[in-house]
Amino acid sequence: MPDLSIEIAGIKLRNPVLLASGTAGYGEDIARYCDLNRVGAIITKGIALKPTPGNPPPRICETPAGMLNAIGLPNVGVDTFIKENIPFLKKFDTRVIVNIFGATVDEYGEVAGSFTGVEGVHGLEVNISCPNIKEGGIAFGTDLEATRRVVRTVRRSTTLPVIIKLSPNVTDIIPFAMVCKDEGADAISMINTLLGMSIDTETWKPRLANITGGLSGPAIKPVAVRMVWQVYNAVDIPIIGMGGITTTGDAVEFFLAGTSAVAVGTANFLNPNVSIEIIDGLGRYLEERGIDSIRGLIGAVKI
Ligand SMILES: Cc1cc2nc3c(=O)[nH]c(=O)nc-3n(C[C@H](O)[C@H](O)[C@H](O)COP(=O)(O)O)c2cc1C
Repeated sequence: MPDLSIEIAGIKLRNPVLLASGTAGYGEDIARYCDLNRVGAIITKGIALKPTPGNPPPRICETPAGMLNAIGLPNVGVDTFIKENIPFLKKFDTRVIVNIFGATVDEYGEVAGSFTGVEGVHGLEVNISCPNIKEGGIAFGTDLEATRRVVRTVRRSTTLPVIIKLSPNVTDIIPFAMVCKDEGADAISMINTLLGMSIDTETWKPRLANITGGLSGPAIKPVAVRMVWQVYNAVDIPIIGMGGITTTGDAVEFFLAGTSAVAVGTANFLNPNVSIEIIDGLGRYLEERGIDSIRGLIGAVKI
């Protein structure tokens, strides 16, 4: 069998297929349908310092080839998560990457620091697509200097592997990836959702209570593949790719563009076992072509 194992950000993964943040919760629900022992890693739903309820409903709506969400990052807070949710995840022989966020740069640092040394946590994925409360509410991840400050602060606050999750809502993503590397991030993941809006033509109201939301699913895949390819060719940092991955072929496209691992998001809502099907599919894809390792695909697109 071809070798699907990969090391990224110093985290050894048995295969390069991860569950994307926010689409697998803290593992409890999806574990009923998907064998977590088989996935490369689970990236948990975002965690902040304190519990937050998230946005009022409606929080999601369907769009052509995708969905919009404005869930608003509801979470149980660091302390409850460590006490009540990590023990469940520790039952599985898989890697756990905790997705974190904050309302201020200092909060990012505090959340990151509180996971240092916590048994069962193998790395942090830092969601920088949240509003910077102290500086006008602009998302950290669309402002280069705010991104720099978050990456620097998180890097100084923890010895855990740090993966920065880039926002696609920028004109040029390359400088953002460069800042991550300069400030000591171990890897980047990309992309988060694209800002979108949908209006009901009967009521003339936005379909989301929050008015705007994040677009995900197959509709965003070409944007994600393009951004991965740009970053792979410009910045020497490992990439976890995501955005609309639904089939083995989708995952292969991301590897060819330059990712070292992939994460499956929205597709879990249609088929919570799809990541396992993609893992098996990748093995077959390599075998049929006589390629002995997944590493043989990374960045191999023929231009
Ligand atoms: C309902 C929902 C909740 C999400 N929650 C988070 C989150 O808490 N933190 C985060 O960094 N990304 C979050 N994301 C973004 C996904 O992890 C992923 O980057 C994005 O949806 C693109 O992948 P996909 O098209 O395969 O879903 C969420 C996405 C969805 C659809």
